[in-house]
Amino acid sequence: MTDAPQRLTIRRPDDWHLHIRSGAMLRAVLPLTARQMGRAIIMPNLVPPAVTTTQAEAYRDEILAALPAGSRFQPLMTAYLTDGTDADDLERGFRSGVLTAVKLYPAHATTNSAHGVTSIAHVVPVLERMQAIGMPLLVHGEVTHADVDIFDREAVFLETVLTPLLARFPRLKIVLEHITTAEGVDLVRRHGPSGRLAATITVHHLMINRSSLFAGGIRPHLYCLPIAKRESHRLALRRAATSGEPWFFLGTDSAPHPIGAKESACGCAGIFTAATAIELYAQVFDEEGALDRLEAFASLNGPAFYGLPPNADSIILERGGCVVPDVLDVDGRNAVLPFRSGERLDWRLLAE
Ligand code: DOR
Ligand code: ZN
Repeated sequence: MTDAPQRLTIRRPDDWHLHIRSGAMLRAVLPLTARQMGRAIIMPNLVPPAVTTTQAEAYRDEILAALPAGSRFQPLMTAYLTDGTDADDLERGFRSGVLTAVKLYPAHATTNSAHGVTSIAHVVPVLERMQAIGMPLLVHGEVTHADVDIFDREAVFLETVLTPLLARFPRLKIVLEHITTAEGVDLVRRHGPSGRLAATITVHHLMINRSSLFAGGIRPHLYCLPIAKRESHRLALRRAATSGEPWFFLGTDSAPHPIGAKESACGCAGIFTAATAIELYAQVFDEEGALDRLEAFASLNGPAFYGLPPNADSIILERGGCVVPDVLDVDGRNAVLPFRSGERLDWRLLAE
């Protein structure tokens, strides 16, 4: 025990998959991420979604205006792909630096995805353009047919959508977001070395399995999409995240919903981890005896895939822990419940 490091200094991490919404919710949750992360890939599934470069730019302005004074946090914007997306608009957004990537939601796969792509066939010219200009495609990897079991939707997507997509677009850079299965891990390992496929891994999928959703009763705050899978998959994800392999990197998919929208007869999908994201990941890496690989996963692999430099500054984590906030007030009427609310974690992020 005495040899265990008490302090860990790593390059400032980035969050390569984040939901921060807009308005009062944005103002409530953004400072929590900005305190930890240098940059974040901002998901565009607003109501209505941010589909064009102009909409992404307006959203970026709203985010920048909501940042705490002096924050150097940088939002990296995405456009929400639809059957009607204009390739010229995406290219303009990418070349001007407004857009970093494009997000593909299969229609109706998850929260606010009704405008998503109904068939890859409808977006072939757009994907060809993205491939030509080096613009990454970020994929929510689940099929949506009601006749496919919810626990099989990622594996079926890999076989029926992603594998043909990789074959059809051999130079398109793809991030398979929030992987939840051993099959996802395997596919990324197969195509990772060519530099065209990588995956984000959330901290909740490293910590919970599908039984956690029903431990002692139904747990709406652990419901997210893709849904947590059985224990063998969680273990495969833990091995992948802590492996140091460069095609796996941090993406929280932190997705705040008002408590009332979660604790409901038909609750929303989404787990809010942003309040203590890096502390949660540190705990997992510590449990796996892999603290020496946290920096690669959290701070180096993501920028390398996106062709960006790592953050110049560092953060310090200290053993001794922190307590996850109980609730986060949004506007006096709505509040959000953080993952592991009120619990003690093993690591603490030192204030600057
Ligand atoms: O659980 C989820 N919540 N999964 C998603 O893909 C979307 C997200 C949200 O926006 O709430
Ligand atoms: Zn997401």
